[in-house]
Order: sequence, then C-alpha cells, then structure tokens
Amino acid sequence: MTKTLVQEQFGKTAASYLTSAPHAKGASLERLVTLTSPQKDWRALDVATGGGHVAYTFAPHVARIWATDITQEMLDMVRAEAQKRGLANIRTAYAKAEALPFEDASFDLVTCRIAPHHFDSIPDFLAEVQRVLKPGGTFALVDNVVPAGSTGDYVNAFERFRDPSHLRAWTMQEWRDALQKAGLGVTHEEQIFKKMEFKAWAARHDADMQSFLRAMLEEMTPAVKAVLEPAGDGDTLTFRLCEGLFIAKKE
Ligand SMILES: C[S@@+](CC[C@H](N)C(=O)[O-])C[C@H]1O[C@@H](n2cnc3c(N)ncnc32)[C@H](O)[C@@H]1O
Repeated sequence: MTKTLVQEQFGKTAASYLTSAPHAKGASLERLVTLTSPQKDWRALDVATGGGHVAYTFAPHVARIWATDITQEMLDMVRAEAQKRGLANIRTAYAKAEALPFEDASFDLVTCRIAPHHFDSIPDFLAEVQRVLKPGGTFALVDNVVPAGSTGDYVNAFERFRDPSHLRAWTMQEWRDALQKAGLGVTHEEQIFKKMEFKAWAARHDADMQSFLRAMLEEMTPAVKAVLEPAGDGDTLTFRLCEGLFIAKKE
C-alpha cells in the first residue's frame, strides 16, 4: 500500500513524539482529565493517538481506551510503551479519523489532541465522533488554533513549511460552528498557550530550511508577531502557539 504524506511524515518521526515536551507534558493533558471527569466503567477512544500520551493519561481512569492512528510506527510504539508502563487496558488499532472502524454508540468518551489540522476532512471526522459516541457521551478536543484572516494564514504557512502534513489549523469560531453542526453541544472551551523551542521544533530539517523558518519568525508583520511572540535568539529562540480546547456532549 502506498503511504500517504501523513504516514510518511509521522512514520519517520514517530519516536520523537514519545518524548516531545509539548506532546508528553503539555498542560492540556491534565486539563482534559479534570474537565471530563472520567469514570471507571467508561469505554474511551483516542483518535490520532500519535505518541499515545492521551491514552496513557486516561488509562488509569477508565475501563478501556483504544489508542488509534493511521501510522503503523505510532501504533507499534504505543503498544510497546503501554506494556512498559503496565497499562493493560490500552488497545491499539488502525483507524482513520474520517472512517472509524467502531460500532455506533459504543464509547462514553472520545478524545483527540493536536491532530485534526492534519485530517483530510474535519466535518467527516466530527460526524464519526457523533456516530460512535453513546447518547450524552463526551467529546474532548484539543487542536492548535489560529486567528482569523491573513494572520492565521501566516501561522498556518509557517507550520506547513516545517511539516507539509499540517493542512490547516482552524479558528475557535470554525470549531464552534462545526461542533454545533455535528450535533456536539459545547459545554466548555478555553485556549492554552504553549511556548515552543525553535531549535527542537525545527530540528528535523537541514540548515537551509531552519534558516528559512527562522527568517519567517524574524520578518513577520506586527500582527503576526503579537500572536507568535518570538523571543530570544540563536539557540534560545522561542515562539508561542495556541491550543483550543473544547468539551462537547453528544446531543
Ligand atoms: C501530532 S500527532 C498526535 C499527537 C497526540 N494525539 C498527542 O496528544 O500527543 C498527529 C497524529 O495524527 C495522525 N493522523 C493524521 N491524520 C490522521 C487521520 N486522518 N486519521 C487518523 N490519524 C491521523 C498521525 O499519524 C499522527 O500520529
């Protein structure tokens, strides 16, 4: 089978997602547990699990959690890591977000963190979340968000040059509208800012591409600068990304 751009990109970099600080330690992980109040008898599903951090975080709180992804290297890594951590209630499975291989109304909780900006169709993904959730079930979503208009376009382009499988991060309003349209009633939303270390973020590229990305941070308009907040220089250069967190209930 030919690999998609996503499978190619994430297959090559899978190991880095197990240790990457914004993924392994991001503030949104514990916020998700606090805001969803998971129960010991819940069946949960984590879509686009990547390094598996949402699954490891929720596993002690629920009966079972499926960690799913389309990149086989991620699934193999998560299976081994779950075993290493003694988390016997994590199962892994190949699942495309837009066509989940699960029965209707089979989960109490569906989670998805820092991934929909890679999906071919977010509306198709949300329709699938709505389908597999039990009535009254909880959807917990985190994804990078951008401001509307050309400022958001610049942030998306910056991210896409670094990772061509980054399609487009949405605005908070786009998420509100799409969740409502999918029959997922928002009960909570917040934004979480995360500081990114440029050196680690750009490390997968050669020197020329790293210089190009650095120039994108240095030569931006004041409006973009106010969003990305570059600080420091050389090895200490940092910038800021924003995550949108939504908790929604199947209506
Ligand atoms: C940044 S990682 C996810 C991070 C992880 N959820 C976390 O919280 O640490 C993005 C993942 O999305 C997966 N992915 C991209 N498109 C997908 C799709 N359409 N369906 C399922 N998984 C997808 C990739 O294979 C990759 O493992």
